[in-house]
Amino acid sequence: MIKNIMITGGAGYIGSHIAEILIKKKKKVIIVDNLSTGFRKLINKKAKFYKADIHNKKKNKIYYKKK
Ligand SMILES: NC(=O)c1ccc[n+]([C@@H]2O[C@H](COP(=O)([O-])OP(=O)(O)OC[C@H]3O[C@@H](n4cnc5c(N)ncnc54)[C@H](O)[C@@H]3O)[C@@H](O)[C@H]2O)c1
Repeated sequence: MIKNIMITGGAGYIGSHIAEILIKKKKKVIIVDNLSTGFRKLINKKAKFYKADIHNKKKNKIYYKKK
């Protein structure tokens, strides 16, 4: 069963709603968002948040980190 789910754009309209649904289903949610159009206040407090741009391959080690 999938336990950890990463959502890109989780500070935006669609992503924040998806995060809320998944957290209610007891999933561990990781949000990656550069806050270009999103809002910090929309990020669910139970999610782990990384402020990062998904296009920046060099800086984004979080994709490859094993947990
Ligand atoms: N009904 C409503 O109240 C309402 C409100 C807002 C939006 N909408 C609709 O929702 C749709 C848009 O929602 P959405 O969730 O797709 O857009 P959004 O802009 O709300 O969310 C996109 C998220 O992705 C992030 N992002 C963008 N580029 C990124 C990058 N390179 N790296 C990391 N993060 C990045 C942004 O910061 C943002 O948080 C539209 O159709 C809009 O009309 C409806």
